[in-house]
Amino acid sequence: MSSSTIESILQEKRTFPPSPEFSQNAKISSMEAYQQLYDRAAADPESFWEELAETELHWFQKWDTVLDWQPPVAQWFVGGKLNISYNCLDRHLTTWRKNKAALIWEGEPGDSRTLTYAQLHREVCQMANVLKQLGAQKGDRVGIYMPMIPEAAIAMLACARIGAVHSVVFGGFSADALRQRLQDGEVKLVITADGGWRKDNIVHLKDEVDKALVEGVPTVTNVLVVKRTGQDIHMEAGRDVWWHELQPTVSADCPAEPMDSEDLLFILYTSGSTGKPKGVVHTTGGYNLYTHVTTQWTFDLKDTDVYWCTADVGWITGHSYIVYGPLSNGATSLMYEGAPRPSNPGCFWDVVEKYGVTIFYTAPTAIRAFMKAGDQLPKARDLSSLRLLGTVGEPINPEAWMWYHQVIGGERCPIVDTWWQTETGGFMITPLPGATPTKPGSATRPFPGIIAEVVDLDGNPVGVNEGGYLTIKYPWPSMMRTVYGDFDRFRRSYWEHIPPKDGQYFYFAGDGARQDEDGYFWVMGRVDDVISVAGHRLGTMEIESALVSHPAVAEAAVVGKPDELKGEEVVAFVSLEGEYTPSEELAKELKKHVVEEIGAIARPGEIRFSDDLPKTRSGKIMRRLLRNLAAGEEITGDTSTLQDRSVLDKLRGGA
Ligand code: WTA
Repeated sequence: MSSSTIESILQEKRTFPPSPEFSQNAKISSMEAYQQLYDRAAADPESFWEELAETELHWFQKWDTVLDWQPPVAQWFVGGKLNISYNCLDRHLTTWRKNKAALIWEGEPGDSRTLTYAQLHREVCQMANVLKQLGAQKGDRVGIYMPMIPEAAIAMLACARIGAVHSVVFGGFSADALRQRLQDGEVKLVITADGGWRKDNIVHLKDEVDKALVEGVPTVTNVLVVKRTGQDIHMEAGRDVWWHELQPTVSADCPAEPMDSEDLLFILYTSGSTGKPKGVVHTTGGYNLYTHVTTQWTFDLKDTDVYWCTADVGWITGHSYIVYGPLSNGATSLMYEGAPRPSNPGCFWDVVEKYGVTIFYTAPTAIRAFMKAGDQLPKARDLSSLRLLGTVGEPINPEAWMWYHQVIGGERCPIVDTWWQTETGGFMITPLPGATPTKPGSATRPFPGIIAEVVDLDGNPVGVNEGGYLTIKYPWPSMMRTVYGDFDRFRRSYWEHIPPKDGQYFYFAGDGARQDEDGYFWVMGRVDDVISVAGHRLGTMEIESALVSHPAVAEAAVVGKPDELKGEEVVAFVSLEGEYTPSEELAKELKKHVVEEIGAIARPGEIRFSDDLPKTRSGKIMRRLLRNLAAGEEITGDTSTLQDRSVLDKLRGGA
């Protein structure tokens, strides 16, 4: 164990192979089949991706070069021309899918809409024509700040159709966060709505846009407003226009612009622990191909599926696996406007029952919230239509995995735990559900074509079950191309932590991991969050999982607090299941439980009880803020992504 690796202390041994019925009907139906694909792709990635690009996508013009790799810059399908909106829409119109549901939408108040591929194509063409009328041209950036309504997807596809670059900003972000992103992207147009529904409340989107623009984003010339809630809003004369007024005035015909494979498709901002948010840049051809293939294989997609990903389009998961991946495959993608809410905590299960959802893809934070809300809610609904479950966003605790498997999946549905990032564009490490035996808490094996390795800081592979830095050693089609406007930051952030060695470059985006004796990857969390106790570097995920496996604990976040003797001491922030109350005894019991589960080295010095934990708006625990609190320091760094500020005040007061 060198100081440049991370220790792994929790080992989960349960294994769940797919059922024979699932495997029989699956596209990739055994580990042998997976291994064959994997080996072929590893031996010659270019011909592997080339063949898929030929068979799976429509190109207006074929490429000259599959991959031009000048580290750290990769260009895929150079010289090829295509349009992702064409691949998501037009090509289905000449098949029976023309009248298949492309989007099924359920609004929070219970209203709903279904758009067939023909209808979606029509609306996308109309919005594309409106954007053109407002002066948007190929290469211009368009901001999208929307609730989860069909027009959010329509706006993205309309931009792609005319070659405008979209920059979607999550509708829960404040005016400040929005302004910062609009400025950085030098956005010309903003598409928004009057408001939207979230957790029984109206979100005032247009008001936030007004605030963001009042202090000036000089590049913005127009705001296109979709009417959703009907609330009163200000419409700035000469700048703001209504979608429902312009839609009937434009043609429903708008040919898709042939785009170069490497033309920008979108910018999506992601925040690190320091510095301003990074505008992650994705381009057209490689992104279209990779999200298409990963959606098809990882979800084992069938034309009979009703597929529901609960993410917001404001995140990469919404981009790749609500809109582009599913639609490129001609799937039925369900969009839900709201979130589980006080007035109906079982609303997700109502939606599954109502539409006969077959594939359900969500995040560990949601799964832990469902667990906390109790089994009676899902048990009161008919969830028998489900055949496959997925998770993304954080390492999933084995405890939450087992609950998902038993209570939601009825022990019949494989779970695909997909490890990936905004930067990677699509799934990197994930089970293929008909092939891969799963283990609770492991994202299992790399997708074919992905060369992943756990290394130390010098780029040397670490041993079996030894923790280290999770890296990717070969380019893949949907990798980010740069940080918008800051190539140097791209290089520094992702390619220099592990310095290149003998011409080998390592992509490293910040996670610690280990690989077990079966070659399975276990992601241990962000290395920024690693705790160093008496010379041992511990990942947060394993200690948190140990805590969550105690019946009293709903959620846990552990951080290090400076300690003169040990370097750092483990401090655990814990929220309890409904029927438990904080006490000294319980704190003692939890410390003991961690020692029993993983050993004395991980024993928390301190347990702090709290109703809630500070999370980003996409549900990730912000351990950096907890670290400040544990050390009794002021909160430092960017807090614009924080979901609920009052949580911090409560934690301060209650400590
Ligand atoms: C974490 C979300 C463990 C990880 C698609 C990664 C995960 C970051 C998993 C990216 C998973 C995501 N298991 N950790 N299945 N999925 N992560 O950019 O730390 O919002 O680096 O993309 O989330 O988050 P992002």
